[in-house]
Amino acid sequence: MQYNVSLKPYNTFGIEVFAKAFEKVYSEEDIINFIRKKPSDEALFVLNGGSNMLLTKDVNAWVMKLELKGLAIISETSSEVIIEAKSSENWHEFVLYCLANNWGGLENLSLIPGNVGSSPIQNIGAYGVEIKDTFVSLEAIHIPTLETHTFTNEECKFGYRESVFKNEFKNQYIITAVRFRLSKAPHKIHTTYGVINQELQKMGISSPTITDVSNAVIRIRQSKLPDPKEIGNSGSFFKNPVIDKKTFQEFQKQNPDAPFYEVSANEFKIPAGWLIEKSGLKGYRNGDAGVHTKQALVLVNYGNASGKEILEVAKHVQDTVFQNFKIHIQPEVNII
Ligand code: EPU
Repeated sequence: MQYNVSLKPYNTFGIEVFAKAFEKVYSEEDIINFIRKKPSDEALFVLNGGSNMLLTKDVNAWVMKLELKGLAIISETSSEVIIEAKSSENWHEFVLYCLANNWGGLENLSLIPGNVGSSPIQNIGAYGVEIKDTFVSLEAIHIPTLETHTFTNEECKFGYRESVFKNEFKNQYIITAVRFRLSKAPHKIHTTYGVINQELQKMGISSPTITDVSNAVIRIRQSKLPDPKEIGNSGSFFKNPVIDKKTFQEFQKQNPDAPFYEVSANEFKIPAGWLIEKSGLKGYRNGDAGVHTKQALVLVNYGNASGKEILEVAKHVQDTVFQNFKIHIQPEVNII
């Protein structure tokens, strides 16, 4: 156990806060030992890839840093494979490993920061695909009882950037491994999301392979999203707001040029990035905290911003969008 440890290397926003106590765990056994030896009056804080959190203050807890690695084929047929990845496998490296084996299903999710174990918590998604589409099950340790549970796809109650682990089971489980069902060739290609087709055309590709789709996604993401190794960030900071039909009709009357997606007969999703850009805040900066210059949904740390400064920018963005559009936008990242 180490004490008073900087968490700056362990969060993609690159925020300097200190953990009261800190230890890396490499196995399920380590996890159980850590929880057993933790004094009951100390809080537990579980850290994996640190890619979806904004740390606004020192963490007055025993921080368990997950380092669970490993990949295994659980079953295989001539048309599909079920692959298990341990929680601390880097997401994008896992996607590339699947592509190298010509297993399809995750290519649209290329280059998303973070680790495999966090992917189900917010049902990561991009370019028309979410992990719920290939997710089979996950293994998790129940913190109060130290028992291992298997959660099926249905039991995770996946929604748009939502799962049971953000709601009724928040902070109750430590996810240790995730299983996906991936296809073998011939693959189903998902290019309904317009920009992928445009990018493939630019690349001169008319019948794309899964690797072509991945390369197109990588090119799109690299052109718009900041690399956390260069500029601290947590991907989309806000969720795209979902509004009811009546509110949407009013909104559309005022903003006929706004992009939108129909979620259901009574629900419409508006890109928060558009609302923020139209509010004049794309590229807004206050000290080292700011709104990214190329994708307004992303907040960035240009160097030494504190979590509180990023949070102030977030509040300013929320207030300004509300003043302009009467729509509340909510953070997607966990604010600690
Ligand atoms: N837009 C703007 N200005 C901006 C950003 C976006 O006008 O600064 C407009 C775009 O022109 C487009 C629409 O908003 O018409 C949608 O933009 P984009 O395709 O970039 O997607 P998004 O809704 O901003 C979501 C996800 C991303 C994911 C992309 C692609 C959320 C919160 N974010 O962003 O996910 O990569 O779709 O599928 O749903 C993440 O969660 O970290 C993330 C990056």
